[in-house]
Amino acid sequence: MIDGKTRLCGLIGNPVEHTMSPVIHNTLAEKCGHNLVYVPFLVECGRIAEAVKGAYALNVLGMNVTVPYKSDVIGSLVEVDELASHIGAVNTLVRTEDGYKGYNTDMTGLYRAMTSEGIRIEDEEIVLLGAGGAARAVAYLCGAQKAAKVYLLNRTLEKADKVAEEVNNAFGREVIVPMLLTDYPKLPERKFLAIQGTSVGLAPHEEDVVIEDAAFYQKIHTGFDLIYKPFTTRFMRLVREAGGEAYNGLKMLLYQGIIAYELWNRVEITEEEAGLVYEKLKGNIGK
Ligand code: ATR
Repeated sequence: MIDGKTRLCGLIGNPVEHTMSPVIHNTLAEKCGHNLVYVPFLVECGRIAEAVKGAYALNVLGMNVTVPYKSDVIGSLVEVDELASHIGAVNTLVRTEDGYKGYNTDMTGLYRAMTSEGIRIEDEEIVLLGAGGAARAVAYLCGAQKAAKVYLLNRTLEKADKVAEEVNNAFGREVIVPMLLTDYPKLPERKFLAIQGTSVGLAPHEEDVVIEDAAFYQKIHTGFDLIYKPFTTRFMRLVREAGGEAYNGLKMLLYQGIIAYELWNRVEITEEEAGLVYEKLKGNIGK
């Protein structure tokens, strides 16, 4: 029941109509018995500062932020969490006494998704595909979580070089090794955790994949694709065909939402509750 005590959370972005975040947060509110509703807000180009100010004035408890405002929103915040600040992108606003504080739960969500599947980053040798916004954030996460080495493979070497320089400077060690995508045969002879952070293979281009060569997949013990549409990407299929384990990005979506919900409501969501939300998300994408 919506009543006089109902708290409001929401998503700001453009577009917002395809979001699954309302499923995550409204399900959690129901399961936890919190008097809270979560709705999408379409914010027109150039109006992000007004939107954040207005949300605060309206006593909105928390916000998620999506494309294209994850960087632009930072100028409207009173504080930014350290990891989000390094990454330069915020997806969660938490109400404080004098304004909103920004977090990046996309990355802490990816970390929790990996941990829940028993995948480690610490001391691991990792292959990261891509050097765009998403992959750059993963590179920071790997640095922060003490990966042994991250081979960052990208079609455009200059972008891989730039990400490597930034992350290596931030952590004071040569954790990221930039490489041209086509140079994958030069990877050391061992098995890696591979994280697929490019936009290649995203529906409707489901048959696309950054690297086709089966020899590359022989070097992967675990593949994690940030994409969850389709549910099984071509990258995942190739990893499995070569005998590795493969995961999609749906649990990353799940946990970025769960961590935001925990920050807003100062609660801890159990793995059982997380599982219920995960089933709803799967239902939502027809799985
Ligand atoms: P996002 O914010 O989702 O990361 P992005 O910043 O546009 O999106 O980055 C897209 C990533 O996918 C980049 O690493 C891009 O490679 P380039 O830096 O060379 O552009 C990669 N990508 C996109 N299409 C690709 C393709 N056909 N082959 C290889 N890589 C591709």
